[in-house]
Amino acid sequence: MAKTIHILNGPNLNLLGKRQPEIYGAETLADVEANCARLGAELGLTTALFQSNFEGGIVEMVHRARDEAQGIIINPAAYTHTSVAILDALNTFEGPVIEVHISNVHKREAFRHHSYVSLRADGVIAGLGIQGYELALRRMATLLA
Ligand code: DQA
Repeated sequence: MAKTIHILNGPNLNLLGKRQPEIYGAETLADVEANCARLGAELGLTTALFQSNFEGGIVEMVHRARDEAQGIIINPAAYTHTSVAILDALNTFEGPVIEVHISNVHKREAFRHHSYVSLRADGVIAGLGIQGYELALRRMATLLA
């Protein structure tokens, strides 16, 4: 049976393509979803993409992934830098976790340089645009092979 990867996205990422395109690019979250579904099919992985603007919504997505997914790709957006609750939720997940940031957070404001989620993530991708999600998916395929 195909393994399932949940791709979780935090606040404001529903506005991808419209939101600060000079930083995040012109492509939308629907493009991310389509690209990952296409690549997932090639790699033999089923993908499901979710987004929430609420911290508790993301915590509940992680709980759902515990039952439904073998791996998590997560862009927690601004909660990356603030959320112990999301870190704690990820610590209850047994499979691989890859953290993705569209922008290079290390080239930006100092408050973006720290990530709670990195304390759990098996890998981190930053600054590669939305292609970072597909690269994370390729790594998932290797980790779950
Ligand atoms: C982001 C970087 C975060 O610092 C920011 O709050 C976001 C998006 C990224 O994908 O580059 O909302 O996670």
